[in-house]
Amino acid sequence: MQAALETLYTAADKPRLTEAARLRTSCRAYAGAPDAAQLAALAYAVGRYQLPGARLVLQPVAESFFTSTLLGMKRITGCTMMAAVIITDTPMSRIHAGILGESFVLEATALGLGTCWVTGSYRRKNLQVSVADNEGVLCVIAVGKPSEPLTMPASRRRKLPEHFCRGNLSDWPEELTDAAALVQLAPSAMNMQPWVLSVGLQGEFILDANDRAQLDAGIALCHAELALETPHRWHYGTARHEPIAWAVAGR
Ligand SMILES: Cc1cc2nc3c(=O)[nH]c(=O)nc-3n(C[C@H](O)[C@H](O)[C@H](O)COP(=O)(O)O)c2cc1C
Repeated sequence: MQAALETLYTAADKPRLTEAARLRTSCRAYAGAPDAAQLAALAYAVGRYQLPGARLVLQPVAESFFTSTLLGMKRITGCTMMAAVIITDTPMSRIHAGILGESFVLEATALGLGTCWVTGSYRRKNLQVSVADNEGVLCVIAVGKPSEPLTMPASRRRKLPEHFCRGNLSDWPEELTDAAALVQLAPSAMNMQPWVLSVGLQGEFILDANDRAQLDAGIALCHAELALETPHRWHYGTARHEPIAWAVAGR
């Protein structure tokens, strides 16, 4: 059977990774690479989380690999390790890349490591990752020892749930408001938070994203999955009028 989002995490993983999701923020100041034990745990996570059309490769990089941004975000400094996010150009690959990458980010966070998704502020021409003819590097994830220990952020720049959830939130089942709260914490490119959540007529949890931002949607799906306890199956839209994904209760 093909790996699927609803089978990616064990019951023991979920509270650990949920805690990591609450702790995670983008880290831009590092004090070097993970130690040997952390690297072994990261390599295990890379091997363990598998979905079709996307894969991660851990690789050392020069500190100068990361560049400054036009948008006033700090340049990533002191980081000498990254995970390259590699995809084949298939319909689900960007969504799967988001799920796998964020699973990796949360595993790294649980190890006390800093991470930052990076699509823009790195030197693409300095990538030294071997890819097959039908593959390409979608983005990279900086990972390493944070220059300051990870601490729970006092506040975050995030949309309020009523701005990305359709309908009356007070009518939503608690499990789905919990899922929305965890999606709210998810990182997104330029902090656009493009996701739109709703509850369908049959009680299904629906996740869509403005501009069909599939990588960000995959990241949000990872967070949503961590919060869902009722057995469920994820379905994915194939037509443009369909949402990106929806979870239906049942096995
Ligand atoms: C797909 C993606 C691409 C990103 N690209 C960059 C980048 O190129 N440079 C950077 O400094 N941060 C980048 N970020 C980090 C976002 O700016 C950050 O997640 C967002 O501002 C929310 O802040 P937080 O991660 O601290 O919660 C990226 C995040 C995502 C999810």
